[in-house]
Amino acid sequence: MSAVGESLGPKRIAVCVGSGGVGKTTVAAAIALRGALQGKKALVCTIDPAHRLASALGLAALGNKEAVVPEEMLRQAGLTLPPGGSLHAMMLDVKHTWDELIARHAPDPERRRRILENRLYQQMSRALAGSHEYMAMEKLYELATERDYGLIVLDTPPTAHALDFLDAPHRVLDFLGDESLRILGPALAAGRIGMKLLHLGGTYAARALARFTGAETLNELAALLQAFEGMYDGFKARAAAVRELMGQSQVGFVVVASPQPMSVDEALFFHRTLTEEGMTVAGLVVNRATGPLWPESAPLPEGVELARAAGEGSADLWGRVALTVAEQQRIARAERAEIARLFAVPGTPRVILARLESDVHDLGGLAVVASRV
Ligand SMILES: Nc1ncnc2c1ncn2[C@@H]1O[C@H](COP(=O)(O)OP(=O)(O)OP(=O)(O)O)[C@@H](O)[C@H]1O
Ligand SMILES: [Mg+2]
Repeated sequence: MSAVGESLGPKRIAVCVGSGGVGKTTVAAAIALRGALQGKKALVCTIDPAHRLASALGLAALGNKEAVVPEEMLRQAGLTLPPGGSLHAMMLDVKHTWDELIARHAPDPERRRRILENRLYQQMSRALAGSHEYMAMEKLYELATERDYGLIVLDTPPTAHALDFLDAPHRVLDFLGDESLRILGPALAAGRIGMKLLHLGGTYAARALARFTGAETLNELAALLQAFEGMYDGFKARAAAVRELMGQSQVGFVVVASPQPMSVDEALFFHRTLTEEGMTVAGLVVNRATGPLWPESAPLPEGVELARAAGEGSADLWGRVALTVAEQQRIARAERAEIARLFAVPGTPRVILARLESDVHDLGGLAVVASRV
């Protein structure tokens, strides 16, 4: 097992973070599968999985609900789970998670209805910046505190900075909070919103509002803030509990990166921020590396060598083969330099995953990743 696998072993919660497209969803699903193969009741909470991966996990139409991956599907992929092992999957539905959260906090059905039917709320719960991150954390908290999974793996949206991720609940809540109501409430009531909005200047609330234009927006905002009155403290307390959970030793963050300069920069930033915030980085994963496949001294694949030795192919062909090999080795050299830069971080378990021949879209592919991560 890799060092990352070992460090995740005792954790109950793994959170895969990293920049866009590096393999967070793939690695998250693979870690959950490995847990199931080790006899755990394991769940992966995915975000926007590729369509084929979603079907491979039996998620085609299930949305926000957890569903067990049928044993028959696992068997077809050659996988047998030991007693106690089961693999569950779900897709995070941001809007639905917001609605559940409102239902949880609303003091009465009327208040709940006023919020759920508010048009600004409906837009906000789909499109507000940070909303996705906030709901991912919220769902994780719910799963961790109310279900009996032995392992929960959270996939995350492609966020550029770890701090955005950790601060999203507070930023979103501040927008809905007492301060916005204090500034905007009286002005909204008196129809003098224009001047007051100027006071918001470049704040998060102003930027958030700018996304939702339209004649009725301000009235909707007034109604939403009023409906939220008194609920804010409950939300805030829960967000604090989520953050507290993130710092517990049962939680391990897995920072996924590709061996490219920008991705490594972002991974280093994630690592630094998470560590500074008191979170445990349980592993660094470099995914889709060319490097390990093409070390400087790599011989040509055996079949190619035999063909050349047998005098097959023209000089032109072998010239082109040599160019291709040199190009691959150049890429591998550049990747190795980036990997070394990332792995200069002391102490954190790490693993390099080679680029597989095809995308990872089925349980068989996930099993290959699971055996290496
Ligand atoms: N080791 C690998 N070898 C080959 N293909 C891979 C590997 N890891 C991931 N992929 C493929 O790369 C693509 C992106 O992976 P994935 O969806 O897991 O990334 P992501 O970080 O979740 O992306 P996003 O930020 O958009 O959510 C997918 O098609 C996946 O199958
Ligand atoms: Mg993803």
